[in-house]
Amino acid sequence: MRIAVPKETAPRERRVALVPETCKKLGQAGYTIAIESGAGLPAGFADDAYKAVGAEVVSDPAALLGGADIVLKVGAPVVEGGRNEVGLMKEGAVFVSSLMPLRNLAATKALAARKVTAFSTDAIPRTTRAQAMDTLSSMANIAGYKGVLLAAAELPKYFPMFMTAAGMVKPARVFVIGAGVAGLQAIATAKRLGATVFATDVRPEVKEQIESVGAKYVGIELKQDAQAGGGYAKELSAEDQARQRQLLAEQCAQVDVVIPTALIGGVFAPKLISAEIVKTMRPGSIIVDLAADGGGNCELSKPGETVVAHGVTIMAPLNLAGTMPADASLLFSRNLVSFLTTFTKDKAFVLDPNDDIQQGSLITHAGEVVHARTKDALQKAGL
Ligand code: NAI
Repeated sequence: MRIAVPKETAPRERRVALVPETCKKLGQAGYTIAIESGAGLPAGFADDAYKAVGAEVVSDPAALLGGADIVLKVGAPVVEGGRNEVGLMKEGAVFVSSLMPLRNLAATKALAARKVTAFSTDAIPRTTRAQAMDTLSSMANIAGYKGVLLAAAELPKYFPMFMTAAGMVKPARVFVIGAGVAGLQAIATAKRLGATVFATDVRPEVKEQIESVGAKYVGIELKQDAQAGGGYAKELSAEDQARQRQLLAEQCAQVDVVIPTALIGGVFAPKLISAEIVKTMRPGSIIVDLAADGGGNCELSKPGETVVAHGVTIMAPLNLAGTMPADASLLFSRNLVSFLTTFTKDKAFVLDPNDDIQQGSLITHAGEVVHARTKDALQKAGL
């Protein structure tokens, strides 16, 4: 079977779906790989490095995509403004990427219309067997790490405590909201840099995880369970939201850096930090809104921009994983290899409608959108 990897063309996207190491692994599994010329360069992988592991480098996107049984990408396929990647794919081809169908309805609809079988790696169920395929975790880990580095670079203070001849400097105080994959990595990174770290979450099992990476847990006793299953949180009841707002206001006013990472259902960002809360924060403090890709946890965040409000610098970086493209591509592509090779039989990718991983991540097949939440979203959007 022939796999094609086109160049990513989305703004700020420097990752690539396969790196030379993973091309080699898929070659050993029996696949032929073709990669668009220059696709790996922004991540530090030259065409020659792909050729060295037996991949074919192709310049013409139509030839690349039209000749592929499987197309691998980092993000959603391009369907408007420039080239139409879905239109160039063969009917019946398999497409695998972090499609984020709920955020990319038009591209998802186009995949269905083209009769492409599309899998979204961000919809892979959170089971032990699927862990090695989980692109959300790999990328969130990078976001948590990089978000803290951004905060440290911007903060007008040290992160660690310092004993100097001019006296002692206190460590920075960091508050992490949402301790999933990104949040736990943010805690660990801030801790390694010497900060005093506090963190909160709404899923009860997270308290122990927060403490195990060196932060102090702060939280409210919820009146209603906020677990949606699979590690995802659901929206808090109105009463719990009001109580949480109080806690967040108290904590944010006492720290130098706030790193919110909270998502509902892994997709949408609840507005947890109001303008009122920002007003009470210390001048010179920093918010790095790691939920910016989902709209942001801070009411004043402008996704993709840095703004200053009430003396607080609010950064809302998009696609942080894309700012570390070498390791992000390596990990992302290992996730893809794990997905493909799990379902490879006799050197070919095999559809298995009874497999829970395929069931969870299958978005379009045989001309239909088959993923229930995406179907609902398309209907609501009138598409
Ligand atoms: P996420 O990105 O969906 O959300 C981030 C965090 O925000 C979560 O911990 C969530 O509980 C929290 N949150 C939501 N609303 C909040 C609020 N109002 N206040 C404070 N916090 C709030 O979650 P992520 O990072 O993708 O994963 C969450 C869990 O799932 C983790 O414990 C992780 O270990 C588990 N997981 C398991 C996998 C597997 O077994 N294959 C793969 C990926 C994650």
